[in-house]
Amino acid sequence: MSYARITGTGGYLPKKVLKNKDLESLLDTTDEWIYTRTGIRQRHIAADNEFTCDLAEQAARIALDAAQRTPDEVDLIVVATTTPDQVFPSTACLLQERLGIHGCPAFDVQAVCAGFIYAMDVAQRYIQTGASRCALVVGAETFSRILDWSDRSTCVLFGDGAGAMVLESSSEPGILSSHLHADGAYKDLLCVPVGVSTAYRELLNGQAYTEMQGREVFKWAVSALGDAVMEAVKANGLSCLDIDWLVPHQANIRIINAIARRLDLSMDNVVVTIGRHGNTSAASIPLAFDEAVRDGRIKDGQTIIIEGFGGGFTWGSLLFKF
Ligand code: UT7
Repeated sequence: MSYARITGTGGYLPKKVLKNKDLESLLDTTDEWIYTRTGIRQRHIAADNEFTCDLAEQAARIALDAAQRTPDEVDLIVVATTTPDQVFPSTACLLQERLGIHGCPAFDVQAVCAGFIYAMDVAQRYIQTGASRCALVVGAETFSRILDWSDRSTCVLFGDGAGAMVLESSSEPGILSSHLHADGAYKDLLCVPVGVSTAYRELLNGQAYTEMQGREVFKWAVSALGDAVMEAVKANGLSCLDIDWLVPHQANIRIINAIARRLDLSMDNVVVTIGRHGNTSAASIPLAFDEAVRDGRIKDGQTIIIEGFGGGFTWGSLLFKF
């Protein structure tokens, strides 16, 4: 069995920036509340005529360039998204068409903010078994479309964006472990409570918004993500001292700080983008990873953990050599 190695990364953020200060005139909120409770200063918002696949395409092309691969070399496309352009075809198929790729498997994965971890897990299994040699894995969201912009407890938290990675088969490590979890018992704590089967008309009228019991989700996220990172470290016979970078899902700086403290990891070894991006759901991990690769923080051969937590609940971690 071969390893799956990341050979290229890309990220894309829509041009429009919405600052906390801008929200002060729309909602009963303050820049100070949002920043101290979440670490967020601003988020990017897709233009009215810009959709998830548009963001995904930009990130994917940048990642393919970085991997020095052309689209025709891609033999698997997995897109993690909660905000697909259409009910069907999947955003992965729409992306496949944009890139001019024909015939390879292409499908979406839905695990909300843990979606990118799930997508990477699937893609690396294709590669390990020899079913794929060059996979394009994308996390892309226009989460702003499923927010109630009059609900200050949720709308200030999220943003839009896309991140992508090219995963290739290699005799060198590679992804070393992947641990995924879910527990549907918590389905009501973080959700958009309607969907195609239950309320298609309401969806069309724009009533499908994110709801969250923030405090409960917060506690769960800290505990589950800490466990998921420890699970990865132990499964590889490592200690936290062996981790060069933690690239966490960017939901709240206080969650990230709590996990770093629990792992005894300095914040100097944690990639944080939440201040500028907000929570971009499935896109947050690959966006943060790409940024740290491009600015030279993350280097070849380093040991990295990525982790994510989302509605479901869903959560997990991946440990790899870059
Ligand atoms: O990505 C998926 C995973 N998502 C997460 O992990 C998010 C987890 N949860 C959180 O990050 C935090 O719970 C929040 C950021 C959502 C909320 O922070 P909190 O410290 O848990 O605040 P809270 O919900 O307990 O609210 C405290 C107060 C409330 O007022 P009262 O009831 O104490 O008078 C809220 O109404 O803050 C109020 N509040 C706000 N005030 C100003 C809530 N949202 C806002 C706001 N501006 N935007």
